[in-house]
Amino acid sequence: MGHETEAAERAHVLKRVPTSSSRRGISAQSGLRQALGQFATGVTVLTAGGEDAHGMTANAFTSVSLEPPMVLCCVSKAARMHASIVTAGSFGVNILAAEQEDVSKYFADWRRPGGMAQFEAVGYTTGRKTGSPLLTGALAWLECELAEVLEGGDHSIFLGQVVATSRGTGEQALVFYGGGYHRIDGHARAA
Ligand SMILES: Cc1cc2nc3c(=O)[nH]c(=O)nc-3n(C[C@H](O)[C@H](O)[C@H](O)COP(=O)(O)O)c2cc1C
Repeated sequence: MGHETEAAERAHVLKRVPTSSSRRGISAQSGLRQALGQFATGVTVLTAGGEDAHGMTANAFTSVSLEPPMVLCCVSKAARMHASIVTAGSFGVNILAAEQEDVSKYFADWRRPGGMAQFEAVGYTTGRKTGSPLLTGALAWLECELAEVLEGGDHSIFLGQVVATSRGTGEQALVFYGGGYHRIDGHARAA
C-alpha cells in the first residue's frame, strides 16, 4: 500500500472510532461518569482534625510512592473537606471495611453534623501524629502531612506524606463499582 493510500485508510478507520462520548450522543460528563464507574475502587473516609475538623467519603485515593511514602486524594473544591485539609495541613485516610457501607453513606451526606460532633455517631480515636480522627472499624488507617496541593480542575489533588499507618483486624473490603457498593473478601486467588 502506498503512503497516500495508507494515510487515507488510517483516516477512515479513525473516523469510525468514537473518540469522545459526545460523538455517541451522550453528554461528555455522563459518558465520563459511566466509563469511570467501571473502575472498581475501595472506599475511604478522609478526615481532618483541629479547629475545622471534618470527614468526607472519597474513592479518589491512591498510593503514589513507597520511598518517601506518599499517597494522594482528590477533593472537590466545593466540598467543605477541602478547606478542612488545607487548614489542618494534614489528613487521615480510613480504608472502609465491607460492613461500613452506612459509614460511607453518612460521610457523603451533607445533613451530618459539623465539626467533631459528626464523628460521635461512628466512634474514633485521635491520630497521634496529625490529630486526624481515625474511625472505629476501618480496615486500615493512614495519617498524612499535606505535602503539596496540585491543581486538578474542579478538584484539588492533595499529595500527602504518610507519617503513620495502622491495620485493623477486618478482612473484607468495601468496594465501589458501577455506582454501587460491593463486598470483597481478602482471600486472593494465587497470582
Ligand atoms: C463512594 C463515594 C465516593 C466519593 N468520592 C469522592 C472523592 O473522591 N472526592 C470528592 O471530592 N468527593 C467524593 N464523594 C462525594 C463526597 O463524599 C460528598 O460530596 C460529600 O457530601 C462532601 O462533603 P463536604 O462538602 O461536607 O466535605 C464521594 C461520594 C461517594 C458516595
